[in-house]
Amino acid sequence: MKQILLVLSLIGILIGSCTSKEEARFQIKEGHFYLDKKPVQLICGEMHYPRIPKEYWRDRLKRAKAMGINTISAYVFWNFHELQPGEFDFEGQADLAEFIRLAQEEELYVILRPGPYVCAEWDFGGYPSWLLREKGMVYRSNDERFLAACERYIKRLGEELSSLTVENGGPILMVQVENEYGSYGDDKVYLGRLRDMIKDAGFNVPLMTCDGSGQMEAGHVAGVLPTVNGAVGEDIIKSVDKFNPGGPYFVAEFYPAWFDVWGTPHSYRDYKRPAEQLEWMVKNGVSVSIYMFHGGTNFSYTNGANTAYGYAPQPTSYDYDAPLGEYGNAYPKYYAFREVLQKHLYKDKPLPEVPAENTIIEIPELTLSESAPLADAFNERINSERPLSMEDVNQDFGYIHYQTVIPKPVKGTLTIKNVRDYAVILLNGKQIGSLDRRHRQSSIEIDVTEVPAKLEIVVENVGRVNYGSDILNNRKGITEKVTIDGKELKGWKNTPLPLHKAPVGSYHYSSDLIKGVPAFHRTVFNLDKTGDTFLDLSKWGKGAAWINGRSLGKFWNIGPQQTLYVPGPWLKEGQNELVIFTLEDTGARTVKGLNAPILDQVGVDINSDERPKRDNSKKPILDKGDIVLTKSLEKEFGWQEFTFENAVTMRHLALETVSAFDDGMPCLSELDVIGEDGKPLTKDTWKVVYASSEEEADKKGYADCLVDGNLGTYWKARSASQPQSVIVDLGEIMTIKGIRIMQPYQKITGKVNEFRIYARPQFFLFK
Ligand code: GLA
Repeated sequence: MKQILLVLSLIGILIGSCTSKEEARFQIKEGHFYLDKKPVQLICGEMHYPRIPKEYWRDRLKRAKAMGINTISAYVFWNFHELQPGEFDFEGQADLAEFIRLAQEEELYVILRPGPYVCAEWDFGGYPSWLLREKGMVYRSNDERFLAACERYIKRLGEELSSLTVENGGPILMVQVENEYGSYGDDKVYLGRLRDMIKDAGFNVPLMTCDGSGQMEAGHVAGVLPTVNGAVGEDIIKSVDKFNPGGPYFVAEFYPAWFDVWGTPHSYRDYKRPAEQLEWMVKNGVSVSIYMFHGGTNFSYTNGANTAYGYAPQPTSYDYDAPLGEYGNAYPKYYAFREVLQKHLYKDKPLPEVPAENTIIEIPELTLSESAPLADAFNERINSERPLSMEDVNQDFGYIHYQTVIPKPVKGTLTIKNVRDYAVILLNGKQIGSLDRRHRQSSIEIDVTEVPAKLEIVVENVGRVNYGSDILNNRKGITEKVTIDGKELKGWKNTPLPLHKAPVGSYHYSSDLIKGVPAFHRTVFNLDKTGDTFLDLSKWGKGAAWINGRSLGKFWNIGPQQTLYVPGPWLKEGQNELVIFTLEDTGARTVKGLNAPILDQVGVDINSDERPKRDNSKKPILDKGDIVLTKSLEKEFGWQEFTFENAVTMRHLALETVSAFDDGMPCLSELDVIGEDGKPLTKDTWKVVYASSEEEADKKGYADCLVDGNLGTYWKARSASQPQSVIVDLGEIMTIKGIRIMQPYQKITGKVNEFRIYARPQFFLFK
């Protein structure tokens, strides 16, 4: 307790000391923010300059202002600026100072969040991939090598931006130290070093940290304002009061919705509840930042990935179902929030008109009638015994090609350790299969008859992990070795294919169409009018696209995103050039520009595992004494969490349905168990050992879908009779605090209402 008090008083003293100078324009005192001596409530909208085409920066800022936003909150993405150690880029799309100046011109203030770690569903949480070259370096820690790199970046940022603080005539009000560090570690020395670096770089404004309410203890640091993420209502006050009694109260991330993941349903959240939550904050003097106000697009290769339930990369669209959608379109949420802000904050001052929508065009069907081989992209070829990772060859993003020779006929299992993250395998020029890290795939059967055989493996970096301890484990390509039946294949040619620039120029496009292997495809077309459009790639497989040399990002027909956003200013009246790289080719060669995006269609996943064989003929004996939970579910999609009365030791868990909302056949999308630390456990080693009944015709309906981490699939019984049950083997005996369950998002009958959970430390008996 004493310790906490000491920390509290230290926070007070230091926050006070860095802002108490009478002359400071922006101050924190008496539980409020003050700007030019007047109390101010910050209504911030998070926007990310690399995710918005530069030509639209002002457009989006105007739309923020028109909703009632007074401050823009912006992460700075280290890997977007320091491309190689000491080599910085602050031009064009990376001209952050210009973005901040435009905000000021539009009468908006700015909160800068330079990390260096930012999370943000951004590759490696913003860290440059060259950090991975230094073996054993520990990020987000006191590792001196790491801190030296942070310091170089922060210093350079200071040179670029410190003249733009509010004290120096610019719009920057505050700067954030790290990002939700409390969810990762609790090293105050590390946080203190970052705090000092930011100050030393010339940012003469108050600093802040932000954390989920349970992590504020570990995430705050002396001299820096603690703020809370994700809290709503009275919880905001309670959380902040523990560390900074009396406020100011600032929710640095308020989530109006959430991001998407490849292969799972589009995130959608109705506006009503978020609008009420915003209204509560506004009425109660709480400052807030809407994460995201406008998400935008992960152009190029900038998306990240999560690993809590297996590898889960984020798609190109970062629409986020935010108030302002991916192309600057106002969703109903935008107007609902605007109404709240108008009513409570701008009573006597009408908000600016919402700018008219930007022009949208359709592009009639185009045929990509020319192809160029992948080998046209080969530049540097590096020889090695074992395959090299992308970082070994100093590559950041994109793809990497590996080639070796198999001298003698062989039949067996080809294993790649580890595939990071998606590999296409070719034998003597023919594609024989692919491996997908999302499904923990690492091997395929191979039969080599024509020798010497050429084995090629093209690996895509699908996005570096941006959250949790797996950020330490972020090398890409093949990270160890390749074997056939355990025997290692040695002697490789490694060819980096970063494809930073559009694959044109020295590429040899011809009308000899290349089919069924990775290749480039191109078309040139004319437009008499430009405008935003949405390239429909739903019939294509997996790859990337460029318009007039600019990357539109990656596509993948597993969805939920099926179109790529083409910003109008990147098109030209007259001739335009579209290039598509296919890593997985379906043979489609036509595309259209649609007048609206498709962001919510989960497609067929060619890599999802085959249906496992299971003997359901023996019935389990489910004993009442093993029941640990009896509850009812809501019908809606979204996690529903249940805590057991006491933690339960189990190896076998049975879920038994008791009733459904209608007379359909019982179905459920996903089941997680919550470990002792309150977090869902990974399900890598789980096995479904029994299902009373399961859909057989539809691959989506079998019982394994209940624990496959894929919210697009579900278990469905083949009979509507109750009860139905599924038994899962957790692989080892574990202590479990509770479970969480997800209903299918699809409109189907049979959604489960009442259910029971049985648990046994060992196995259930079968009749
Ligand atoms: C956290 C992080 C953000 C972002 C959101 C989810 O709160 O601070 O960077 O990753 O989660 O969108």
